[in-house]
Amino acid sequence: MSIGIHDLAVSTAHHVVDLAELAEATGVDPAKYQIGLGQDRMSFPAPDEDIVTMGAAAALPLLERHGTDGIRTVLFATESGVDQSKSAGLFVHELLGLPRTMRVAEFKQACYGATAALQSALGIVARNPRERVLVIASDVARYELDTPGEPTQGAGAVAMLVSADPALLAIEPVSGVAARDVDDFWRPNDSTTAVVDGRLSLTAYLGALTTAWDDFAAGGGVGAGQIDRFCFHQPFTKMARKALKGLAQHTGVELGDELQEATFAYNRELGNTYTASLYAGLAALLDQDDTLAGTRIGLFSYGSGAVGEFFTGIVQPGYQEQRRCEAVTAELAGRVPLSLSEYRELHATEHASGTDLETPRVTQGPFRFAGIRRQARQYEATQ
Ligand code: HMG
Repeated sequence: MSIGIHDLAVSTAHHVVDLAELAEATGVDPAKYQIGLGQDRMSFPAPDEDIVTMGAAAALPLLERHGTDGIRTVLFATESGVDQSKSAGLFVHELLGLPRTMRVAEFKQACYGATAALQSALGIVARNPRERVLVIASDVARYELDTPGEPTQGAGAVAMLVSADPALLAIEPVSGVAARDVDDFWRPNDSTTAVVDGRLSLTAYLGALTTAWDDFAAGGGVGAGQIDRFCFHQPFTKMARKALKGLAQHTGVELGDELQEATFAYNRELGNTYTASLYAGLAALLDQDDTLAGTRIGLFSYGSGAVGEFFTGIVQPGYQEQRRCEAVTAELAGRVPLSLSEYRELHATEHASGTDLETPRVTQGPFRFAGIRRQARQYEATQ
């Protein structure tokens, strides 16, 4: 029996910041962002959006297409959680009208959280192949203004339906894993922005990749030359280029960027979506390449702090029927640009949980964050 990703959908925030404009306004050569980092734009949430509204919007089309039969688990992965205790998945569960008979939980380990959720989902389905699991990865990546991290912000969500006999990607059983306590990137409880040691984060990412690769090989994984396409976590797309080059050097196998180029299309536009980034890369690859049926994709998930996992999947025949390229393209194109001053003002906005709040109605998405009442976050459908 094969188990894997049956369907997946991408969603993002209402606003967009053009990185060429940000560069020009701050005296940076736009080529540094576009070529040096490999990023064009970054999504930015409106005041009535957050990880819950984006996550629910990503999951909605999956339920519309497949119904809720067999779904007994919602796993919500994020590192920009809206509560220290309650899973963001519970807000989504209510917004989507999912059945009461459901286990719901939140996963956290920086950008790696979605892969932890996916691997757990595979285990749940292996135990009972009649069950299906809804995995949601949703994040708002935020750094301080005027720091090197600023052009690598972003926002977005990916929802995946994990099942037996998947229509998109059958995940193979061998995985290579890596873990090491390293202070490359983290977000203290009292901070809305991440603390990052940029240089260390690059080497920690590349180190986790080689450790995970060696573990993958030792566990009986296929050779690098037997992998047809690569899809890596993309904090900025240039990072994936560095990673593939590093893997080629490590394995001695020639691995050109044509093996991963198609994975960049959405992430160049979204910016870093932390937990969702790897799977937005996968969505872009499947959406853009019609020739993938039967091919093997190698995926590398990295989460600062730091954990990595390398695993593979086989693209299923007929995967083209499941795709949602037009929807993603339309959502990206429909984002409303922010001027630099509007962006900076929104960036500085913080919602103190102790004060009641009603948010302005801005998002065109199906769900919105309506505000805070008696310290509890309120969400509603927009239609
Ligand atoms: P920086 O200091 O601004 O950039 O920080 P730089 O000076 O190193 O330049 C970046 C690249 O642009 C370089 O290319 C330059 O040569 C090039 P490289 O040598 O690296 O190939 N460049 C130009 N190219 C063309 N025309 C020009 C030009 N000027 C320069 N005119 C840094 C870059 C990534 C460190 C910063 O943006 C940062 O701190 N970002 C946040 C941390 C991050 O994304 N780390 C990635 C690995 S960790 C990770 O993936 C986990 C994460 O997603 C979080 C999680 O797990 O939860 C972040």
